Amino acid sequence: MSAFCALAAFVLALSLCGADVGDFAPCLQFFYRSWPPKGLAGTPICQRYANQHHFATLYSRPRRSPWFSAYLYTAPAGKRPAASWKYEPQLADPRAAGDMIPFPPGPVDQNVVQSQAVEPDYINSTYTRGHLNPSLHHRSHDARTATFTLTNVVPQKVGSNDGPWEVLEQAVHKTLGAFCLGDAYVVTGVIPYRGGQRWLKEHRVAVPEYLWSAYCCPHYNHSLPQELSGTFPTYGAVGRNDPSSGEEIVPVSQAAKRQFRGYDVRRMPLHTLEMYLRDRVSAELSLFYEQCLGSR
Ligand SMILES: *[C@@H]1O[C@H](CO)[C@@H](O)[C@H](O)[C@H]1NC(C)=O
Ligand SMILES: *[C@@H]1O[C@H](CO)[C@@H](O)[C@H](O)[C@H]1NC(C)=O
Repeated sequence: MSAFCALAAFVLALSLCGADVGDFAPCLQFFYRSWPPKGLAGTPICQRYANQHHFATLYSRPRRSPWFSAYLYTAPAGKRPAASWKYEPQLADPRAAGDMIPFPPGPVDQNVVQSQAVEPDYINSTYTRGHLNPSLHHRSHDARTATFTLTNVVPQKVGSNDGPWEVLEQAVHKTLGAFCLGDAYVVTGVIPYRGGQRWLKEHRVAVPEYLWSAYCCPHYNHSLPQELSGTFPTYGAVGRNDPSSGEEIVPVSQAAKRQFRGYDVRRMPLHTLEMYLRDRVSAELSLFYEQCLGSR
């Protein structure tokens, strides 16, 4: 960004110089205390659809997939929108308009193909398109539709996506819907393989070994049922995306149905999740301002 753009963006509320990619400033409302997770390097995307910001994503250009998406949970209403997959034009051209755009029916511009994942990366692969920010966690039709962008998606095995990970998304929805009394901030991301990355197609889209998720709900109903004690104001989870992974982070249950075996999700306190992330991803990692305890 030029000095002029930086100044103009500052003065004109970031509308002029294509500031939806490269800076979280226009969408800090999706982070608790306007404090994005620390310790991860990537390209910030303020995810804009229908001229409105709906969530935030830290995108990895070398991986052509996100590190995490961050959003405010709202109780869902209505049906899951028909998937119309979109891309982020500003990753290909910083001067492009700020809204995400549906893929065209024909060939995709080579600058787009170079800058991010495109639909053919996922077609004929053994991975599904796994939402980090799921459509299930949003009330408005626009917010739900906005989750269908490939910059919010990672290669996820169907046994995880339709199995334990979906159960987790449902459980978080029920828990926050019932006991969170104010804003609920959710961050969901990936743990890469240690060394030896796996890819969709030839070095196109990096496959994560695990998915993780954590929420921060500072104002909650303190009359929690026994089974939810310890899950507020913050809680986390890690889910397997590869049945052949070791069991040091998430053990495998032999009781799971065959199609879901090896895709277990382990719920855990925030500090435990952060411990694994510091070990695997970044020693400086911190997900929420003051571990989400700052309001006490
Ligand atoms: C998917 O596989 C089919 C059948 O092998 C092939 O015709 C098609 O071109 C493939 N599509 C992509 C995007 O690789
Ligand atoms: C808190 O939860 C209890 C049940 O555990 C419920 O009876 C009560 O109405 C809830 N309070 C609020 C403010 O939602």
